Amino acid sequence: MPLLIRNGEIITADSRSRADIYCEGETVTRIGAGLEAPAGAQVIDATGKYVFPGFIDPHVHITLPFMGTFAKDTYDTASKAALVGGTTTLIEMCCPAKNEDALGGFEHWMAQAQGRSACDFTFHMGAAKFDAKTQSQLREIVSRGISSFKVFLAYKGAFGVDDTELFGILGLARELGVVVTAHCENETLVYELQRRLLAAGKTDPGQHHESRPPAVEAEGVHHLMTFAELTGAHTYIVHLSCKRALDEALAARRRGVRVGIETLIQYLVLDKTWAELPGFEGAKYVMSPPLRDASNQEHLWNGIRDGLIQTVATDHAPFDFKGQKDMGRADFTKIPNGIPSLEERINLLYTRGVKAGRIDLHTLVNAASTQVAKTFDLFPRKGSIQPGADADLVVYDPGYRGVISQATQHMNLDYSAFEGWKIEGRPSAVTVRGQVAVRDGAFVGDPARGRFLKRAPSRAG
Ligand code: URP
Ligand code: ZN
Ligand code: ZN
Repeated sequence: MPLLIRNGEIITADSRSRADIYCEGETVTRIGAGLEAPAGAQVIDATGKYVFPGFIDPHVHITLPFMGTFAKDTYDTASKAALVGGTTTLIEMCCPAKNEDALGGFEHWMAQAQGRSACDFTFHMGAAKFDAKTQSQLREIVSRGISSFKVFLAYKGAFGVDDTELFGILGLARELGVVVTAHCENETLVYELQRRLLAAGKTDPGQHHESRPPAVEAEGVHHLMTFAELTGAHTYIVHLSCKRALDEALAARRRGVRVGIETLIQYLVLDKTWAELPGFEGAKYVMSPPLRDASNQEHLWNGIRDGLIQTVATDHAPFDFKGQKDMGRADFTKIPNGIPSLEERINLLYTRGVKAGRIDLHTLVNAASTQVAKTFDLFPRKGSIQPGADADLVVYDPGYRGVISQATQHMNLDYSAFEGWKIEGRPSAVTVRGQVAVRDGAFVGDPARGRFLKRAPSRAG
């Protein structure tokens, strides 16, 4: 059924106009004033509302065996939560362990998503080792439509790669024109600091950030940047959390290293005092890199505003408080890492960013949609509103006032890290390739509409 979105204020990364948007099939076909809806078309009145391109979360975990347990969401729950929050495309980290095959992992991750996702999806392909077999499997995976890899410089013994493997993966990425996304923390330093704290009897969740101070992240960034410089690979630092790490990345960029920078909504709105809450409540706020001193936040907001930081993601990694986070009651190193935020990213960016005067609407669209699409070979099909683009649209109501609560969220989780927080806006309608998926906070779409997005590498040379 054709769709007409009437009289909204269309906001893209670089333009603002009041117009109607007409969608046929799966794409936007016309934009203009006074467009007529043919009989049978669905019409959404967007008067008084913004219309944004569908948001893209460049860093989520849905299928995730991790720290002795499994992330709670499935594609069924996560894709609906994403859509209710305005996110229409997910880029998931496909993370086979060191002792697993890359290709087997890719097929397993794909099987969890195919036919089970309400929104479109793709993957960053995790490489936890680099031998001849892995190399040929990574080539095969790229030929199947993947244009980004993922490496961990952290998580010793699980996903982490050593320097020889890192050098090989970056070299292959350079040859294939693939972007390498990286978790940057020095795993040896983390391990030694954890041991020191535990030996001193320091076991509570607030010790997590003591074991991973900014220097540990900055060292990881510096390390990756040196390897990127000497291989010429295109890199992308995931979940950058603090000024010290940002300074390392920007210094590398100034000397010509190709690097994109992602921060997370959590680092923008939460600080380390949340992980210090008494009564083990702090475990809800344990993630890696950890929440930082609040003084870092203005550097991150300014970095987004000034275009130094390209994207804002969630690193959605959902673990229940009861039965999962509490595996670490006696030892903070056993608390599964992650602060789930998939559903809240856009409303928090709007409320704490745009409404608070830290960023403008175009920056919101750029960091949460357009730059993601450009970095990961999805633009202009995603991340834009123009004829020919997928009709993934977010009609956003700036007049909405509400409160975040676990009781009303769609993420499959027994807590919300933002319980009771006020939001000043939310999507009133969300479409996935021309079909309405969300109306006023409720999922009303096709639970299996989501498609795997094939991407072709574009970074050769
Ligand atoms: O704490 C986090 N970030 N959990 C998910 C795994 C990762 O490092 O991205
Ligand atoms: Zn990570
Ligand atoms: Zn992650």
